[in-house]
Amino acid sequence: MNNAFSMLPLLLALAGVGTTAQAATAGDAARGAKQAAICIGCHGIVGYQASFPEVYRVPMIAGQGGKYIASALLAYQKGDRKHPTMRGIAASLTEQDMADLGAYYEQLGQATAKAVPATLATPVPDALKDRMAACVACHGANFNTPLDPAYPKLAGQYADYLHSALKQYHTDGNPQLGRSNATMRAQVVQEADGKKKLTFTNAELKQVAQYLGALPGDMRVVPQSRFR
Ligand code: HEC
Ligand code: HEC
Repeated sequence: MNNAFSMLPLLLALAGVGTTAQAATAGDAARGAKQAAICIGCHGIVGYQASFPEVYRVPMIAGQGGKYIASALLAYQKGDRKHPTMRGIAASLTEQDMADLGAYYEQLGQATAKAVPATLATPVPDALKDRMAACVACHGANFNTPLDPAYPKLAGQYADYLHSALKQYHTDGNPQLGRSNATMRAQVVQEADGKKKLTFTNAELKQVAQYLGALPGDMRVVPQSRFR
């Protein structure tokens, strides 16, 4: 049988699948691995700090959910997230690239990962308990198993990064720092009559971040060579 002809049904099937929205965002980890060459200079170095516009450690993304990674990259591209470096990085990525990078980082380092307890490893500090009761509904009972794969895992993420992220959801009018996600804004700000009231003081947000950062979770930094 002619080889080109025997391939034809397969090619048609692939082309057909490609027209649905879902297939367009299904990630290919092998392709993502190649794209990740431009990421490892920051996300592949343990404890690496960003210095502009604020100093905090570059977030861990190995072991984070792939759909969330893709969604965060899209938010930088659209400008919903203002961080200038990540905006620059995301600018030229297609949605397929974002899905591929997500698929790659989701599995990275997980083969040797320890199982994470299904419930909270340590109780939420009393002073924050009431206000943090709602968080688990979306981020998971252990902050590591989000309700929706497009929501982030938080457990074990760098606390200084989480603190900045939390502040960014209530930062207005700063062209270089801020996130316009309405869901998370509602968690940190109460708005009425054009007035803005913060749910947590800055010191409390830091405490929230430190609590979350100390929980066991899937995320890690997997140091990698640029020259593989
Ligand atoms: C020059 C350093 C640098 C490079 C290179 C870089 N990043 Fe980032 N990345 C950062 C910093 C800093 C942040 C935190 C930005 C913020 O505060 O929103 C970040 C945030 C992210 C986030 C959001 C994480 C979260 O928890 O919400 C994702 C996803 C991400 N980067 C993926 C990538 C990918 C994929 C690449 C390569 C294509 C890449 N980054 C390249 C520095 C970098
Ligand atoms: C209704 C669902 C929902 C609830 C409730 C919720 N979150 Fe979130 N959270 C999200 C989503 C969705 C995002 C991603 C937003 C974005 O893309 O910037 C997020 C992002 C975050 C981030 C940034 C993570 C990162 O890697 O950048 C932190 C920190 C966070 N949430 C903490 C909390 C805390 C603390 C609470 C409770 C006070 C909470 N969340 C309640 C849905 C929720």
